[in-house]
Amino acid sequence: MQVVSISSLKGGVGKTSVTLGLASAALAAGIPTLVVDLDPHADATTGLGVRSADQLDIGRLLKIARRGDLGANVVPSGWVASAIRHNPPLSGKPPVLDVAVGSAYSGIYDRPDLGRRDLRRLATLLSRLEGYGLVLIDCPPSLNGLTRMAWTASNRVLLVAEPGLFSVAGTERTMRAIELFRREFAPNLSTAGIVANRVRPGSNEHTFRLAEMRQMFGDLLLSPTITEQANWQQIQGAAHSVHHWPGESARNAAGYFDELLKNLVDSGRLRSRVARRA
Ligand SMILES: Nc1ncnc2c1ncn2[C@@H]1O[C@H](COP(=O)(O)OP(=O)(O)O)[C@@H](O)[C@H]1O
Ligand SMILES: [Mg+2]
Repeated sequence: MQVVSISSLKGGVGKTSVTLGLASAALAAGIPTLVVDLDPHADATTGLGVRSADQLDIGRLLKIARRGDLGANVVPSGWVASAIRHNPPLSGKPPVLDVAVGSAYSGIYDRPDLGRRDLRRLATLLSRLEGYGLVLIDCPPSLNGLTRMAWTASNRVLLVAEPGLFSVAGTERTMRAIELFRREFAPNLSTAGIVANRVRPGSNEHTFRLAEMRQMFGDLLLSPTITEQANWQQIQGAAHSVHHWPGESARNAAGYFDELLKNLVDSGRLRSRVARRA
């Protein structure tokens, strides 16, 4: 099971959008996937079309991590029904896209001074989980307790950045924070790479910043970059999967995420082979 944290120091750069895009691609590819919505704003839960349910939210599960049953408290994404309508499964087995529901309650752990025991809460919940190929963790926009808890539970961190001055500087600081954290708390953690989001192909500033990012981060700057999409908010507002939204621009966006997911999953396999051999 690959566990990927989607993180950035800043808010509004597209963590939730990238999480949703990858979840949509995983659903289309038939990879059984769980999205853990660790941001107290719970935008991913809303975007994945989860209606209020009786299940415990992730904040309450973290509180009772040692005896909490995450598997019994996930909710299927509303996207699954339309995926089945678009592509009736040949095997008769429906695809799996579940959500560990976000809520403001998880905010109690978003402190800068979280101890080692608290940092392990999500890892403990995930350790008893079965049946998923991929877990995507949508993090809040800080490097406080919740993001560090997500890193402790992950094999990989995917960073999201816009091609702007402060965002590039923030990404460099986040990379340093990951490296320090890896040394002290999470030796198996690696950086999956950086997704440049909201790229405007005609913008000189963006072209300049992308070149700068390529120079600073080398291969860690992932391909493809995600362009600014005019209808993004409309798709997310409708709690729809980008793979099931009509029109060419949604089709293009879906294609970016298919490729990004493929690169993420392939490089993860490669890394675990290398780790096994070592
Ligand atoms: N590639 C994009 N094109 C257009 N709008 C985008 C794109 N990525 C994100 N947005 C919009 O920007 C806002 C912030 O994105 P979001 O994913 O919520 O960021 P974060 O989770 O990092 O706070 C949202 O309204 C989202 O719809
Ligand atoms: Mg978000």
